[in-house]
Amino acid sequence: MAFTIAIDGPAAAGKGTLSKAVAAHFGYAHLDTGLLYRAVGARTLQGAEPIAAAQALQAEDLEADNLRTPDVAQAASKVAVIPEVRAALVAFQQAFARRDGGAVLDGRDIGTVICPDAEVKLFVTASAEVRATRRHKELAEKGGTQSYEAVLQDVIERDKRDSERATAPLKPAEDAVQIDTSDLSIEAAIAAAIAAIEARR
Ligand code: C5P
Repeated sequence: MAFTIAIDGPAAAGKGTLSKAVAAHFGYAHLDTGLLYRAVGARTLQGAEPIAAAQALQAEDLEADNLRTPDVAQAASKVAVIPEVRAALVAFQQAFARRDGGAVLDGRDIGTVICPDAEVKLFVTASAEVRATRRHKELAEKGGTQSYEAVLQDVIERDKRDSERATAPLKPAEDAVQIDTSDLSIEAAIAAAIAAIEARR
């Protein structure tokens, strides 16, 4: 039986960590939909045309190991404003969402556009400063040399582009449960997400 959990929110709010933990807890499959836009963005950095790159995207492309860099993140948020790019990625996400055995999808428009009928919708937020602090630490641990200010600027720019675009802007679905992780430990945020899901199962 299909059971879809949609988890949306801005960059570095903790969606990835929460989604993985929730998927593991319930034994569901997990799709980080940002990887789709990152894979298309990465192709455009190599000179590809974004719509053609989105239409040609294969599941294996999501496993490329160069997708987590700040350059690719910026390129992803630029291709993500193009309606034809978004349209080309819908079927893959919807098929994943309705697979047997349950699915967790995290992104920006899962509860609003991709899976408006998801059984559970969470909207995960945190202040821009908290998110930049977390992302800066994460990048530094991987050997990144970006300053905190540069990471904060990147978070703010992507928030602006994601929430102001005309097609599928970042916003909570009307029926989403909001979780602000600014003052929550990872464990407390996971517990809050699991409790919200249990209440709807
Ligand atoms: O979540 P992540 O940081 O990997 O996403 C990269 C970019 O892809 C986001 O800034 C956003 O512009 C775009 N995106 C989107 N819709 C999604 C997931 C990601 O527009 N469902």
